[in-house]
Amino acid sequence: MNFYDQLWVQKYAPKTLDDLILSDENREFFSKINEDTPHLLLYGNAGTGKTTLAKIIVNDVLKCQYLYINASDENGVDTIRNKVISFSQTRSFDSKKKVIILDEFCGTTPEAQRILRNVMEEYAGTTRFILTANYLNRIIEPIQSRCLMFNIVPKLDQCAVRCLHILKSENIKVGNNMDFVLFLKNNFPDMRRIINDLQKFSITGEVVITQNTNVKDLAVNIFNDLISKKPIFEIRKTVLEQERKFGSNYQELFKQIFDLIYESSISDDIKRQAMIELGEFLYRDNIVLDHEINFFCCLLALSKII
Ligand SMILES: Nc1ncnc2c1ncn2[C@@H]1O[C@H](COP(=O)(O)OP(=O)(O)OP(=O)(O)O)[C@@H](O)[C@H]1O
Ligand SMILES: [Mg+2]
Repeated sequence: MNFYDQLWVQKYAPKTLDDLILSDENREFFSKINEDTPHLLLYGNAGTGKTTLAKIIVNDVLKCQYLYINASDENGVDTIRNKVISFSQTRSFDSKKKVIILDEFCGTTPEAQRILRNVMEEYAGTTRFILTANYLNRIIEPIQSRCLMFNIVPKLDQCAVRCLHILKSENIKVGNNMDFVLFLKNNFPDMRRIINDLQKFSITGEVVITQNTNVKDLAVNIFNDLISKKPIFEIRKTVLEQERKFGSNYQELFKQIFDLIYESSISDDIKRQAMIELGEFLYRDNIVLDHEINFFCCLLALSKII
């Protein structure tokens, strides 16, 4: 067994629709799809099972010939012209429709998306598309309107059951239940992150959750520090010290601080400016290389406003 196979996310990757955590409506729909189902666009948070679902659809539900492309690596016009169009033009082994999975499609350039728009129509008689994406706003409207769109969100209680199943199969003891529940809530719905972290926490044979800092508590501290004009570099030091404990979940930290500002009694004008600023930095968090630097820049911006 190689290293990759030893990763729990890999070892326990769902292979059938039954293994996958899905909402009841989505499960009902995906179990019934057939060749005549229109193109699909699966969107939602990172680590919720979009890529896994796309592969289950082709391998387990439709059992059809397919082409998989990671569209954020191969994101240009050339891929559409060379790979997508030529695969669409070939005959399938059987007489069934073929499927092209364009994974992480929001990384595709707008120009390539415009070309794909026509390809989707031209080859609709022989080829179906399954697109996955984290950010719908990066997909041009004509593509969205050619697809049935599904928000892929696992259910929290089923995620907990799944984690406990993995831990049991690996003979890992669960120590503090409260820590476990808090950890799940803090990281939901990113199942990849949850399962990866659980594996890290389990090396002793018992789950010891070190990432148990409640992000909300940290957000409250940061908010109070900003109000009391604590030196900004000291605030950064606290964040860095706690980084491991809150699992570098900066998205959640942004959201918690946003809520605190919204509920606070600071003047409406300042509140508005601060919330717009936070919204901008939260958006950037999706694209930046260094999330901590982005968060720190946000603190600098907020300290000027508040
Ligand atoms: N809904 C789910 N049910 C069960 N396991 C899941 C689910 N979602 C994710 N996982 C676990 O996380 C791993 C990664 O999931 P996957 O790559 O399909 O997520 P994704 O939504 O495509 O993420 P990204 O947006 O980052 O591309 C899976 O192999 C599986 O172990
Ligand atoms: Mg994916």
